[in-house]
Amino acid sequence: MRGLKDKVVAVTGSASGIGRAIALRFGAEGALVALLDINDSGAKDVAETIVAAGGKALVFKVDITDRASVEAAVDAVEKTAAPIDILVNNAGWDIPIPFVDTDRAFWDKVIAINLYGPLNMHHVVVPRMMARKKGRIVNIASDAGRVGSSGEAVYSACKGGIIAFTKTIAREAARANINVNCVCPGPTDTPLFDAFKAQSVDGAKIAEGLARAIPFRRLGQPGDYPGIVAFLASDDAGYITGQVISVSGGLTMHG
Ligand SMILES: NC(=O)c1ccc[n+]([C@@H]2O[C@H](COP(=O)([O-])OP(=O)(O)OC[C@H]3O[C@@H](n4cnc5c(N)ncnc54)[C@H](O)[C@@H]3O)[C@@H](O)[C@H]2O)c1
Repeated sequence: MRGLKDKVVAVTGSASGIGRAIALRFGAEGALVALLDINDSGAKDVAETIVAAGGKALVFKVDITDRASVEAAVDAVEKTAAPIDILVNNAGWDIPIPFVDTDRAFWDKVIAINLYGPLNMHHVVVPRMMARKKGRIVNIASDAGRVGSSGEAVYSACKGGIIAFTKTIAREAARANINVNCVCPGPTDTPLFDAFKAQSVDGAKIAEGLARAIPFRRLGQPGDYPGIVAFLASDDAGYITGQVISVSGGLTMHG
């Protein structure tokens, strides 16, 4: 992919699942990957894998729900490495519970991670990118934010919010030469999805039903996402901003 070598790429939630796969890809493209995760020991394993393959990676512990933690982590990346060229907001969390059975404490946790987290990251990183008049941001939302997902009402609200937020920031940041786009995974075989299955009555059956409903007849794998994310961060995507792309094996097809 053109234009990724030696770029500084910050990936949140890169200790696991989709974020891990995205980080490995940027490492293979010759970028310096800043692994930002609350699980720093998991992130260290990913960093070691990148370095063992000849790439460059650094780990920064962050809790994206905490503005001060985000600011400290971004300061540390920029001090240790260099200014962030590319930001991938990937960290997310949910467990499936019917909305009527949820409570305010659960809403607060889901909103803190899936909405306030990316807001904190943008609020710290975008002004710095604006000052430099360049930057790329890719937000990992979800098809739950486009078509809904039973048992994930508040999560869906957050992901729908991230889609709308992406479009607005894309407009506000375009004059500073910053592209902001959004990728929406469908159901994907990661530790988060394992937890989803474990929490649901008939979780295994739901997973089988989803796989049957997907035109490609399988769940997503973490490796299905790095290609589109790397493309959106590359020089080839310089005229693309404010777009939302579903990667879901055809489960959802939007006009
Ligand atoms: N797996 C799916 O089916 C699926 C579907 C659609 C969208 N997504 C989205 O894809 C993204 C990645 O999901 P995944 O399935 O790879 O999940 P995962 O649970 O495997 O990984 C999520 C990572 O985020 C980190 N994280 C969680 N809270 C954090 C916090 N407060 N601060 C910093 N890091 C934090 C975790 O430590 C973990 O490493 C999420 O945004 C998720 O909502 C996943």
